[in-house]
Amino acid sequence: MTERIHLRAGGVSLVLDSSDGRLPAVLHWGADLGDVSAEGLASLAAATAPVVVPSSPDAPVRVSLVPEASTGYLGRPGLTGSRAGRDWSPRWAVVGVERSGDLVTYRAEDAACGLRLVVEVELTPQGLVRTRASVTNEGADDFEVGELLVMLPVPRRAREVLDLAGGWGSERHPQRTPWVIGQHRREGRAGRTGFDAPTVLHVGVPGFGFGSGEVWGVHVAWSGNHVHTAERTASGVQVVGGGELLLPGEGRLAPGQTYAGPWVYGSWGEGLDAVARRFHAWLRARPGHPGVERPVTLNVWEAVYFDHSLDRLKHLADLAAQVGIERFVLDDGWFGSRRDDTRGLGDWVVSPEVWPDGLAPLVDHVRGLGMQFGLWVEPEMVNLDSDVARAHPEWVMQPGYGRLPVEARHQQVLNLTIPEAYAHVRDQLLAVLRGNDIAYLKWDHNRDLVDAGGPDGSPAVHAQTLAAYRLMDELRAAFPGLEIESCSSGGGRIDLEVLQRTERVWVSDVMDPHERQRMLRWTGQLLPPELLGSHIASAQSPTTGRAHDLTFRASTAVFGHLGVEWDLAAASPDELAELGAWIGWWKEHRAALLGGDLVRVDVPEGDAWVHGVVTPERAIFSVGSGSSGPVSHLGDVVLPGLDPEVEYDVRPVIPASPPFLFGMPEWFAGVRLSGRVLTTVGLRCPVMPPDQVLLVEAVRCG
Ligand code: DGJ
Repeated sequence: MTERIHLRAGGVSLVLDSSDGRLPAVLHWGADLGDVSAEGLASLAAATAPVVVPSSPDAPVRVSLVPEASTGYLGRPGLTGSRAGRDWSPRWAVVGVERSGDLVTYRAEDAACGLRLVVEVELTPQGLVRTRASVTNEGADDFEVGELLVMLPVPRRAREVLDLAGGWGSERHPQRTPWVIGQHRREGRAGRTGFDAPTVLHVGVPGFGFGSGEVWGVHVAWSGNHVHTAERTASGVQVVGGGELLLPGEGRLAPGQTYAGPWVYGSWGEGLDAVARRFHAWLRARPGHPGVERPVTLNVWEAVYFDHSLDRLKHLADLAAQVGIERFVLDDGWFGSRRDDTRGLGDWVVSPEVWPDGLAPLVDHVRGLGMQFGLWVEPEMVNLDSDVARAHPEWVMQPGYGRLPVEARHQQVLNLTIPEAYAHVRDQLLAVLRGNDIAYLKWDHNRDLVDAGGPDGSPAVHAQTLAAYRLMDELRAAFPGLEIESCSSGGGRIDLEVLQRTERVWVSDVMDPHERQRMLRWTGQLLPPELLGSHIASAQSPTTGRAHDLTFRASTAVFGHLGVEWDLAAASPDELAELGAWIGWWKEHRAALLGGDLVRVDVPEGDAWVHGVVTPERAIFSVGSGSSGPVSHLGDVVLPGLDPEVEYDVRPVIPASPPFLFGMPEWFAGVRLSGRVLTTVGLRCPVMPPDQVLLVEAVRCG
């Protein structure tokens, strides 16, 4: 089997080499190499062939997409596992290579180990690498997969690692370190994607930023336990990739069974924006991807919490319609005995106590006002104080020692791997959906999976993750057009696999715009703005205690799928009018705000930002400072992403109250400048006090 394959798309080349009949090695992943002949590929292979060095195997160690220890590679092997201590170091022989467009499938086997491996590699039209591996047990006894990672090599000039970390209400802080020898291994053990997920694990040339410096980023698309890793070996190999983190027994394969790992995505670019835009472009090209006409949403959680009163909610709906809101979402508290977070979870039946006539009076009112109706659910969870847990205590995930997992938010995890439990939840949800005109589910997931055992107590995070996907898929199949928002106490479940069945993510429970600036900036590294739930909340944030004016709250939130999460009944008429003006402006500009290319500027002044969205006709930028100093001098701010050959009319945008600024730059009266000038010289910025945003619009002339 001799194959060298050059995939080219979106300015990227990926060269795969299985010419020695072994698993594919990546000869190049990065900038487009142009047309390369078969001889050219052979020369490339010769030019980059590994060499034999002293005190190493006599044959050069070639690192493939699933690195093999049997070659003498001393980094982490792609496949770990054994058949009770045997068949633990496969040496794969490729037995088939199929190419369908830009998807290449490698079939390999190791007859001695009784294993088969399939590696799929695709280069999407947007230049995004998608790859995954699956292993099949061909032997007569069980084989237990410990880990199956797919790893992509990167050149030695990549010397820094940047990924994200965080916690509840504090999602997506960037962390940057030198890439030293060893593993930068990020494990997600929360049974959900996690607040602390790397989201995208990048390696790049020293000092890479939003707009410059070569960067390679990987994302493991999986909502259960996962691993992202960047490894540099002492022998000079550098790889990035990941896979699922399997708990003991989760990877056990009976004879004939297959374990399929998650898709691992790789994005290369000059700067982080280029890396992000490949993810965005790929998502946007999917059939069924939400367009730019996202409905402005009101979520009533922070207005009423568990206190559901029909009159109050109808009044909120009236006010919502008045300010231009298009979707009304009823959050937690509508079902069973759920009057607080200690009980009722898992009983997906409209509470007769709170809703004696069902949800219809509210749904009809909302629909009558021309808004869609959305509903909160948390289908994977249960309070022990619930009808379902009382009737079926055995449906609660537990480790099998006669004890339950520690409680979190007074709740446990309902074992959806038990067919009866799954059917119970599905049927209750289907009945609610059938009985009410519901366009949207806010799908929550409020605890980590700790000691999450299946029916026999063995770990079942893998199976539970698949069951959650299946449940979403089934509900959507039954109700085509039903949208789902992925929420997990905020941004705890944001990954590209859950995004195959959801249209929005809840970025964080914290809507304090000071925090949201960072959260939107970095969640945008994976997802485009139309998928980011972005709400204007009350002046004082209930989660941080900080207060901000409406201009800062709104001008922060408009760079996402806009919503409101504020007790509108407590807002003054002036505030409602101002909010209405912002919503009106957002609707007018959502095509650009949600359809443009993301651009971010590397601002030397630490806690300041310049970011924007650019379409061929119009660009909208946000310039601001979160600095705790008294004022912030940003000087001349460049606006990237514009067409250098085009002239733009530039002006500040003030949909409602102006931001609090010092100094009135001359260009505020309007100025016409070329894209080249705006991206190289920029505009003089007024002095920005902390937590203020200036919006700037550049409209193509003619
Ligand atoms: C956590 C979510 O992130 C909140 O927005 C809200 O839906 C609560 N759960 C409800 O319990």
